[in-house]
Amino acid sequence: MAEFKVKSKIVSETNSKNLFQRPDGRGIKEMRETEAKVGVVPAADGSAMFRTGKTIAIAAVYGPKKMHPQHKQDPATGQIRCEYNMISFSVDERIRPGRNRRAMEISEITKWALEPSVMLDKYPSQVIDVHINIIQADAGTRCAGINAASLALAHAGVPMKDLVSSVSVGKLDKTLVVDLTKEEEDFEEGEGPTDIPISMTSSGKVTHMQLDGKIGVKQLQESVDLAKESCEEIYEIQKKALKDAVDMEAKK
Ligand code: CDP
Repeated sequence: MAEFKVKSKIVSETNSKNLFQRPDGRGIKEMRETEAKVGVVPAADGSAMFRTGKTIAIAAVYGPKKMHPQHKQDPATGQIRCEYNMISFSVDERIRPGRNRRAMEISEITKWALEPSVMLDKYPSQVIDVHINIIQADAGTRCAGINAASLALAHAGVPMKDLVSSVSVGKLDKTLVVDLTKEEEDFEEGEGPTDIPISMTSSGKVTHMQLDGKIGVKQLQESVDLAKESCEEIYEIQKKALKDAVDMEAKK
């Protein structure tokens, strides 16, 4: 896991002037309305819903269980198998059902983002299946999926070192903002949009970072700082979802 130092509290000049108007009127550091809930798929060993604005992810965890096919078993460690899927009616233009390259890439990235937080050495030759379905999409689906999946793993009782929280930071022209909508991802003025999804543990260890666009080193460090602030907020929402489920169980 890479460890980025949260050293600069300096926001770029454009950001500090804060002249940039987001289409939905949010502040540059303001996430969309966010909620999380666990236990949404009763048949799964663990499950969770994570919503940010109009983007909704549902994650269901099955296992740990014996890895099949057998030749994929690793006697040294357990494995996570992720399947990310954006369902047909999650966006206005219907998506062709089935696996596609984008879904395969996001499935792999999600696995990489989660793996460092899970104590897989406790499950040699076993597999934990994580199924993520995006039932409604307005950008940031890989981050919402990671947030839901981390919660679902914890809900399944899988031993973890930490939860993983994820948010997309964007550079719109020259200004950094958090939790982009699809409208913002399609921003075309000036330098255009740069999308930087970042995932990290609550102790600030970055487990995943992607970059689609152009950005300088200083603003990239600032992006990590912004992501850290948002991930701290997301972590509190995730923790509350788990606590609410425990409280509900105790009342039964
Ligand atoms: O969703 P995320 O931002 O992680 O990934 P993306 O590939 O950058 O997709 C951005 C957004 O484009 C998605 O969240 C959807 O709102 C939209 N999209 C779409 O409308 N149709 C697709 N086939 C793929 C994405």
